[in-house]
Amino acid sequence: MWDKFAGFYRLTPAERLLLLQQFCEISDEESALLTENQGLPLDLADHMVENVIGSFPYPFGVALYFRVNERDHIVPMVIEENSVIAAASKAAKIALASGGFTAQAPESISIGQVQLIEVPDEDEARTQILDSKSEILEVANSCDAILVGHGGGAVDLELRSIQGSRGPMLIADLLVDTKDAMGANTVNTMLEAISPNLEALSGGKTCLRILSNLAVRRVASASAIFSKDLIGGEEVVDRFLWAVDFAEVDPFRAATHNKGILNGVIGVVQATGNDSRAIEAGAHAFAAYGHPYKPLTTYSKTPTGDLLGEIQIPLMVGRIGGITSIHPLARVAWKILNVNSVGEFCEVLAAVGLAQNFAALLALSTEGIQKGHMKLHASNIALMAGAQNDEVDVVVERLIAAGKITVDYASEVLEELRSRDC
Ligand code: MEV
Repeated sequence: MWDKFAGFYRLTPAERLLLLQQFCEISDEESALLTENQGLPLDLADHMVENVIGSFPYPFGVALYFRVNERDHIVPMVIEENSVIAAASKAAKIALASGGFTAQAPESISIGQVQLIEVPDEDEARTQILDSKSEILEVANSCDAILVGHGGGAVDLELRSIQGSRGPMLIADLLVDTKDAMGANTVNTMLEAISPNLEALSGGKTCLRILSNLAVRRVASASAIFSKDLIGGEEVVDRFLWAVDFAEVDPFRAATHNKGILNGVIGVVQATGNDSRAIEAGAHAFAAYGHPYKPLTTYSKTPTGDLLGEIQIPLMVGRIGGITSIHPLARVAWKILNVNSVGEFCEVLAAVGLAQNFAALLALSTEGIQKGHMKLHASNIALMAGAQNDEVDVVVERLIAAGKITVDYASEVLEELRSRDC
């Protein structure tokens, strides 16, 4: 199908949407939502958060060329940063030449924590709680018959003793299979329901009862081969591996490396109405889980001298619940993405994270990224000077060619253009 998308970036937004409609069954009403800025009706926004005065549109684009486990996906992204979508598509196209991405979905097990304090005898508390585990799980599962009906629910309870500066704490970790949902509300409800049991059994008091965003039981992985012949040969591969090495050993670099991964992942997470903060928190915590802060991707050279990229990233996301199925534009995003399960969604997200990171490292280890970013800067300046529609591109070109990216110069160029037109 990808040959139909050749030159996609050169089309107008309306032409792109028409082409997309051939693949994604986007109705005319849904097209109007995308283009007429009515994507989030005010009354819906007013029910989502407090003190609503309006809504705040972001650009909605699509990354192309993603083949994940032999299925093609057009990937919706909502993001304000320029170059991210183009970079993801470019990397996916390079991976496509070697067969695309291979990815593994994670389990959908979330961890909820109950903090027990002032427990008089921890050994006794452990025995009492573990002896009553099945009753506690039953109490938890009584909170969500629908989830249990779908084969999910609380599956285990584990205990950990930790020492705080105020004294010891016994932490009960409730493991919940949330299936197709992100599951924060379900888990938190279960935790509040079981806490009286835990208090009675331990003789202590519960303090916090809340989901953990360090989702170590929801880690997706993806890998792909990037052919050396498509990226400039052996020297580029070597420079690329130096860039990876830098992030491996330096947390200052690793933080930026991981930010690049999240550029892609969060774009898709936002488009699908998922909780981006949960993903950011989980990704960074996982990067420092059990070792100093590390990059979430690794790369090695294959026997043929190509690059093998791999990613592992915790993804606490859902296909149902929250606003994933009620935000009208998230619904359009799901249609475009065309995934059949939350597992498949995670596989695509992991592939997007790897692609985004590969593209960033390739640019950084070769020509740098400022060329693309100067274009964004110039475009913002042109808009600030009042350029509209077709004028923006013309002004941007002139600012870059003159090496003078200032509002004053943009106004001058604009005045000249307009005087020519009349
Ligand atoms: C910019 O948004 C992301 C990058 O800084 C990522 C990286 O440095 O790897 C380009």
